[in-house]
This record gives sequence, structure tokens and C-alpha cells, in this order.
Amino acid sequence: MKQFPPSELLQSLPKQFFASLVDKVAKKMAEGHDIINLGQGNPDQPTPPHIVEAMQKAVANPKYHKYSPFQGYSFLKRAVAAFYEREYGVAIDPEKEVAILFGGKAGLVEIPQCLANPGDIVLVPDPGYPDYWSGIALARAKMVMMPLRAENQFLPDYAEIPEHIAEKAKIMFLNYPNNPTGAIASKEFFEETVSFAAKHGICVVHDFAYGAIGFDGKKPVSFLQAEGAKEIGVEIYTFSKTYNMAGWRVAFAVGNESVIAAINLLQDHLYVSLFGAIQEAAATALLSSQRCVEELVALYESRRNTLIDALRQIGWDVAAPKGSFFAWLPVPNGWTSERFSDYLLEKAHVVVAPGIGFGKHGEGYVRVGLLTSESRLQEAAERIAKLGLF
Ligand SMILES: Cc1ncc(COP(=O)(O)O)c(C=O)c1O
Repeated sequence: MKQFPPSELLQSLPKQFFASLVDKVAKKMAEGHDIINLGQGNPDQPTPPHIVEAMQKAVANPKYHKYSPFQGYSFLKRAVAAFYEREYGVAIDPEKEVAILFGGKAGLVEIPQCLANPGDIVLVPDPGYPDYWSGIALARAKMVMMPLRAENQFLPDYAEIPEHIAEKAKIMFLNYPNNPTGAIASKEFFEETVSFAAKHGICVVHDFAYGAIGFDGKKPVSFLQAEGAKEIGVEIYTFSKTYNMAGWRVAFAVGNESVIAAINLLQDHLYVSLFGAIQEAAATALLSSQRCVEELVALYESRRNTLIDALRQIGWDVAAPKGSFFAWLPVPNGWTSERFSDYLLEKAHVVVAPGIGFGKHGEGYVRVGLLTSESRLQEAAERIAKLGLF
């Protein structure tokens, strides 16, 4: 059989760092070990029943068996506007300021292709979610990292970005509550972001994937709550985490009209919009009682408390995340994040994600997901304690 070589574009895509971890874990599991996998970000709870029931009903509606309108159903865009008004006090024009997406990942990967030309600079948080890198590579744009450091509460320091870089930058990705660090951002930080971005004409793309998940009674701030944010950026909101709908592939972008138009134009060429029944169930999620979201946040907060208490008890000096469903834990002195993760897998059968996989400034940390029961989190801490590292 002839082997067709992948295009130069495909060959330029960043290597999937975590693929090798997945292989190592699969091998250990095949050997029959009881593995506690805290390395991934896949929500473990089911979609709330009222959303599933809305889908079950909608799937029988012949209207949805046809092509959906190209840019999505207006009822979903109106539901998005109502959600932003209710949750954040932000007014959104449903037709001009909302784009329906096949998951947040799709929007994040599309945006550089919508706005950047080859060689343009895109500012990216380091450590950060690796899918930003994929969209930048597909646009043949150039990535410049913004270090996130513990001493700055894992927020970028705009004073560090050289003037000539800021002037050439087209896009900036941000993500709070943050994957992987669990940090949150304030309205003041977003206001500082708006003035920096406006000064340099940079489009801010705020990835609000963990927008619902803030701990200690603090609701995460939307970027669009900052004065002038809609003039200079968009926010990407996914149903994957808020409503445990990761498998459904539904999300939306809200904000700057020209960016929304560009996303819609690219999507007109790539797809017809999502299955209508999914759009109806998604509207139900946004417009129904948010009790299920409160319960989910309480579940993650309780898991966080259990994990952090257990790790501190074994002598590991860790900070509690303020949002997201991840904890960002410093590795012991003398270890790299990769060697430490390999050691935990080998000796404790506990999987964590090495920080280096999220960028150079992720070195020195590992990421742990709060996506299993408290008893398993406790057991993971007990297994790690036996290694005598702390
Ligand atoms: C920071 C961040 N952004 C975006 C996503 C994408 O979510 P989805 O494509 O399921 O909407 C994830 C998923 O893990 C994430 O962690």
C-alpha cells in the first residue's frame, strides 16, 4: 500500500506530550495493577437528568433531523444571552455576539485561523492548555509565552512583555479559573488586560472552561464583566465542565462582533451547525435551575479539601486551588516533573500529569485532577506517603 506522507502543515503540529503518559498508564493497567488515575481532565459525573431528558425528547423531533441553520439555532443564542445577563450582568446581542461551537476546543483552535496571518504573534500562558498551541500551528502563527508564576498568583505580568512583541501580537489567550494551576483572576486583572490589549490592538480570547467552578464561595469573574472587554475580546464557554457534557461537544463564543463574525464565516466553510437536539438540550441547561451546578461545585470543593488535607498530613506542602478541578502541586526538591510522575506511577500506581507537558514554566509541578471519589483521593495520598518522600 502506498504511504501518503502527511502535509507539511500536519507535520508542523506540536507533539502530543501526554500521549506517552497515556501509553505508560495503559501498559500498567494491562499488567493488572490497581491504578488511581489523577492525570486526566475528564469529568467523572453524568450529565444532569433534566438535560438528558430534554435531549431524549428533542431527538424525536423531525425538525432536528434536517440540517440545522448554518450558524446555529436562534433559541440557543438567545439562551446564551439570557445566561450571561443572569449570571454576570453582561448584555449580549444574541445574533451578533454569539457563535455556537462544537466544544470549546474547536473555538480555541479556530480563532488563530480566523485572525492571525502566518508569522503573526500569539501570546500564550505558560503553563497552559496545550490546545492553544495547535490552533496557532495550524495558522502558521508564532507563539510567545507569558510565564505564569506562583509569586504573581499565576497571572501574566504584562510589564514583562517587550514593547516590540506587544506591538506585533494579534491574539492573547487567557484562562481563569486556570488549567493547570487552579488560579483565579479578579475583575481588576481583567481591566488591566483590557487596557493592555486595547493599547496594542490585541484580541483577548478568554477561555472560561472552568467558569462555574470557584471555591470558598467565590464565583469566578467573567472577562466580559470588565469595562470595555467586548470591544477587545471574546470569551469561550463550554458545557463540558459546568454540566458534565464533555461528550456532547457543545460550547459557544461570546463577545466582540467582528471575531464572532469571523468564527461564523470559518465554520460556514467547515461544517453545518450542531445537531439541533443537542442545541435544544444545551438551551435547557442554560435556562433551567442551576442547582445541579451548585451541587457539582460543592462536590469538587469537598474533594479538594480531602485531597489537600491528606497531602498536608503526609508532609507535602501544597496550596489549595481556588477554582477549576485541578490541584497544582510542587514536586520535591531534586526531581523533574516527568521523573516524579513516572516514579509515582511505578511505585504507587498513582497517575499525575507532569507540569512540563503544559510548558516550560510548568516544570517543578504536577497536576492532579479532582475527578475521582474522596476515598480514592485519600488512598492516593496514603500510597504516596509510603514512598517516604516528604
Ligand atoms: C482549559 C481548557 N480549555 C478548554 C477545554 C476544552 O473543553 P471542550 O472542548 O470539551 O469544550 C478544556 C478541556 O479540558 C480545558 O481544560
